Amino acid sequence: MGAITHLFVYSVFFSLLRISITQDSISITPSQSIRDGGTTLVSAGRSFQLGFFSPGNSNSRYVGIWYTVSPDTVVWVANREAPLSDHSGVLKLADDGVLVLLNSTNGTVWSSNTSTTLQNPLAQLLDTGNLVVKDGNDDKPENFLWQSFDYPCDTHLPEMKLGWNLVTGLDRFISSWKSTDDPAPGEYSVRIDPRGLPQRVNMKGDSIKTRAGSWNGITFTGNQGLRPNPVFRYEFVFNEKEIYYDYKLLNTSVFSRFVIDPSGIAQRFIWVDRTQSWEPFFTSEADQCENYGLCGAYATCNINNSPICSCLEGFLPKSPKAWDSIDWSDGCVRRTPLKCKVGDGFRKQTGVKLPDTSSSWYNKSMTLQECEGMCLKNCSCTAYSTLDVRGGGSGCLLWFGSLVDIREFSEGGQDFYIRMAISELGHLEKEGQSSKKKLVGIIVGSALLVVGMIIVGLLLYIWKKKLKKQGTTKGSQRKDYDNEGGKEDMELPIFDLAAIVNATDNFSNNKKLGEGGFGPVYKGTLPEGRDIAVKRLSKNSGQGLDEFKNEVILIAKLQHRNLVKLLGCCIQENENMLVYEYMPNKSLDSFIFDQPKRKLLDWNKRINIIRGVAKGLLYLHEDSRLRIIHRDLKASNILLDNDMNPKISDFGLARSFGGDQIDSETNRIMGTYGYMSPEYAEHGQYSVKSDVFSFGVLVLEIVSGKKNRGFCHPDHHLNLLGHAWKLWIEDRSMELVDELIGDLCTLSNVLRHIHVGLLCVQHRPEDRPNMSSVVQMLSSESFLPKPKQPGFFTVSLEDDSSSSKHGTYSANEITTTSFKARRIRIEGSKREKGK
Ligand SMILES: *[C@@H]1O[C@H](CO)[C@@H](O)[C@H](O)[C@H]1NC(C)=O
Ligand SMILES: *[C@@H]1O[C@H](CO)[C@@H](O)[C@H](O)[C@H]1NC(C)=O
Ligand SMILES: *[C@@H]1O[C@H](CO)[C@@H](O)[C@H](O)[C@H]1NC(C)=O
Ligand SMILES: *[C@@H]1O[C@H](CO)[C@@H](O)[C@H](O)[C@H]1NC(C)=O
Ligand SMILES: *[C@@H]1O[C@H](CO)[C@@H](O)[C@H](O)[C@H]1NC(C)=O
Ligand SMILES: *[C@@H]1O[C@H](CO)[C@@H](O)[C@H](O)[C@H]1NC(C)=O
Repeated sequence: MGAITHLFVYSVFFSLLRISITQDSISITPSQSIRDGGTTLVSAGRSFQLGFFSPGNSNSRYVGIWYTVSPDTVVWVANREAPLSDHSGVLKLADDGVLVLLNSTNGTVWSSNTSTTLQNPLAQLLDTGNLVVKDGNDDKPENFLWQSFDYPCDTHLPEMKLGWNLVTGLDRFISSWKSTDDPAPGEYSVRIDPRGLPQRVNMKGDSIKTRAGSWNGITFTGNQGLRPNPVFRYEFVFNEKEIYYDYKLLNTSVFSRFVIDPSGIAQRFIWVDRTQSWEPFFTSEADQCENYGLCGAYATCNINNSPICSCLEGFLPKSPKAWDSIDWSDGCVRRTPLKCKVGDGFRKQTGVKLPDTSSSWYNKSMTLQECEGMCLKNCSCTAYSTLDVRGGGSGCLLWFGSLVDIREFSEGGQDFYIRMAISELGHLEKEGQSSKKKLVGIIVGSALLVVGMIIVGLLLYIWKKKLKKQGTTKGSQRKDYDNEGGKEDMELPIFDLAAIVNATDNFSNNKKLGEGGFGPVYKGTLPEGRDIAVKRLSKNSGQGLDEFKNEVILIAKLQHRNLVKLLGCCIQENENMLVYEYMPNKSLDSFIFDQPKRKLLDWNKRINIIRGVAKGLLYLHEDSRLRIIHRDLKASNILLDNDMNPKISDFGLARSFGGDQIDSETNRIMGTYGYMSPEYAEHGQYSVKSDVFSFGVLVLEIVSGKKNRGFCHPDHHLNLLGHAWKLWIEDRSMELVDELIGDLCTLSNVLRHIHVGLLCVQHRPEDRPNMSSVVQMLSSESFLPKPKQPGFFTVSLEDDSSSSKHGTYSANEITTTSFKARRIRIEGSKREKGK
């Protein structure tokens, strides 16, 4: 320690003349002056003195400020770049309040840089060591006309602001002397770098030599020496007006200074009265890792390792040969490039000095989660962290560009999150034995699946054969409706058949919007210009007039912003028709499964659709007076209004019933493959949980932009649910996300939707949440149970060889043929058995 100390002790030789000083003064007025060899200016508390001196072996004369207890410790020099060659210098306060240093010929060698003038100017040396020019009666620091603290030399004194006044552009920094003989600015400086999140840096010339780092609320992230202590407290202020670091002594009779010496070593000293000497306050072992950017980009320095530099996890040396010969300057590069919008995540790096923040961005009020989302949104964002670590952390700090100058600390240090391709994350986190188990699980699961698929295929084949034989494909679809509506009078508008025929151009093919669950749907335009959608229910329904009326009344009672509104009906000449509001954006499947149109559904729109459908379904299940199970929820049954708000259609056309009663009595299966729950498809049992299953499929389809049915993947034979599950257990869920989705909100938010989707498609109905839980799960950050393997029943039928014979399975869902083929009606066969 002594070896270091001697570097900082300036042997300043003072002229004999100064020793003969007889008179000290407390202030200078315009009529007074300080002459070399005459009076010194002394601070009121007598801690500091100002006068003329010659440093080291030099004969040049300077005006400086030093400690009274330690006259060779000069803390400030006025004319550091303009020495006087003789002892004739005079420091005067001009009438306008400008301090001037004159030479023998009355030429101005140095002056305080002031522009405004004062009535009653006074120059004073404060007991902090600050030389100020002020109005005689005004002691407010903000009104000082000039102060030496604004022009520091090599010493950072207590109360002195090191940093920027952003309003005036004044940059206060300390700079080393050229040598112990020459106080002119040398190569080294300690300053606040205001770029990005401000940080304290030690510079050599124009380049950073070491970096204390950015402020984390408690200290500079890389400065292990600066800690709360009994000698001084410190603060870092950064707002729109100022960026500065300063410190204050807790006991003002203790002296402490922070100085950068001509060789670039910056250190704090404390005056020890007993020994009458300056002792270093804290000596951090200045090790190799302190060198700015020693290890290059994306690497960390750890002084306890050998070699000290290593690439961050998931990164490789850019120039392996140079790296091995311990030239680390090229740094490291990613093993897997970022995918930006689709599949990036973050890996937590703990206990480090945060990377250089000169190309960073920050926000003091954002949460860490918002921070992550913000980073994901911008492809050039490479990392994020908490801005202020106090009280559990607050604020957001984002890095753009490469990450340099990271060092690992054995204790302390901060955490930050590095952007990585998701596949890297999976790779990194799964490097345990557990991955093997999971792999086995997947293989076994897949095998079971294939067997399951074959069985399903066979069953289907048998059913279809039976149906064909019996020729009973018509099956009255609405026989099983309850007469819940009673005999109330219809308050629903009845449309005249002629008007409908007119509106739809006599059900012209041009007007056909598609084939819904119970018949074709046509677009119509009423004479007053209003657009409607007319569902023409299958003629041969065999349903009585009263029955139909009752149903319509029931359905009309269901009103929710996420349900398509029933405007009226038309019952005439054996025609049963329902008139709905017209949805210009058609159905969700026309967007979500369509390459160009999918792009229009960004993540926020998709979230909105998922939540809307959830709310609509919740209303059907629980909130409406009736309890409705949709039984055929699917993308083509979700219509979109002008603002892309989802509206469920075809609800209530399935069996509707009141109260809590759940009728799981099996008499018919309807629904759509790909969306059908296992218990429904296998045993015809349905409950609200069957809709939850369909909803889960829908969620995964919306997130991935892929159809569950018809899904195929080069690596496996799983359907979309199986694929989602596989990615989930491999922690690669982000790969499920549609690459056309655009900017994502936050990673956790996306994962949450996938998580909820998986919970909804659980095999056992009791493992699935009900819709009120789903709505709550989607809108909160509450804990979610772990999903199990989903119900795989609805495997991709394309994999089944039998499906190729019935090519309709892969056909467009809207066409009539595919519609009919997709529906399985075992009703006929059951009845047959009953008879
Ligand atoms: C310098 O200024 C002082 C006071 O204004 C004056 O007495 C002196 O003669 C001047 N000296 C020279 C060399 O001009
Ligand atoms: C005094 O300072 C002036 C202005 O800087 C300069 O021109 C002059 O040569 C100096 N005189 C001496 C004796 O150094
Ligand atoms: C004095 O102020 C001017 C303009 O305000 C500036 O350009 C100059 O660098 C300043 N000089 C010193 C020594 O601060
Ligand atoms: C401040 O320091 C002086 C000298 O070390 C000591 O005598 C005094 O008790 C201290 N005051 C407080 C309040 O700690
Ligand atoms: C910081 O974040 C808050 C909350 O998200 C926001 O209101 C504010 O506008 C942001 N400030 C800046 C400068 O972006
Ligand atoms: C990403 O951030 C950088 C740096 O702040 C900015 O220049 C760029 O415009 C941002 N890009 C987007 C798409 O927001």
